[in-house]
Amino acid sequence: MTYPKSIKLGIVKTATSTNDVIRERAENGAEDLVAIQADIQTMGRGRRGRSWATIPEQSVACSILVRENEAPHLPLLTALSVCQAVKTWIPKAGIKWPNDILIRGKKLSGILVERFGTASNGYYIVGTGINVGAANDSFWQDIPHATSLAREGAEVSVSHVLELYLKYFSQMLHHYREHGWDNFLADMYRDNCISLGDSVTWKNGGREIKGQVIDIDAEGTLLLHTEGGDTLRILSGDIVRDAQLHSGEQL
Ligand code: BTN
Repeated sequence: MTYPKSIKLGIVKTATSTNDVIRERAENGAEDLVAIQADIQTMGRGRRGRSWATIPEQSVACSILVRENEAPHLPLLTALSVCQAVKTWIPKAGIKWPNDILIRGKKLSGILVERFGTASNGYYIVGTGINVGAANDSFWQDIPHATSLAREGAEVSVSHVLELYLKYFSQMLHHYREHGWDNFLADMYRDNCISLGDSVTWKNGGREIKGQVIDIDAEGTLLLHTEGGDTLRILSGDIVRDAQLHSGEQL
């Protein structure tokens, strides 16, 4: 198996959370682009304090150390890398802003980017989960809004998905380091984003605002046309598609 030379990937059998493993290594001086994939992840973490379930031995559960002090577009860039990889098998896959990958409205992949360190001397950990295998029925019971490549008809190995994801990630990170979040990346993100035009509810802290997504601008900011007629620039938080809000699902 070949991986992009720049990413130094280690594979472990079991980890609690690969983000936590990389954090420990980073604190012990690990170099830029050290990465780890766990066959089994027992305490996967998601965004906003949620947990993340990993199909044992049938998921990408991978974290990468990125030694950059300020790289605010990493969540978008990572989503783009996963989306490009997944499209090899499922061309309909798309990004739900900011960094979920959906197929037919169901979540295939989630990304948790964390920044550690001080304001002037920090680093990022990019954690990516991609559901690959079919898993048994009980795995899906509590997450009816989730899917996997196998469930969508793509029989592919974890190592192949990981290899492609890391290839695209390393290429796009290289581009980002050279040029920043330029039109090339911004246009590619917009082309792959399925949130455009969606009727959504934006949730942030205790606030909820309904509206329609009218654009993702050159910086990756979401523009929401609210029911009250304002246009809000949204940098963070979650958007929930209204169709799914009504069916009790939170995507
Ligand atoms: C989300 O959608 O809420 C983000 C999920 C991120 C899951 C990945 S799996 C690899 C890495 N390790 C973790 O504990 N979380 C991320």
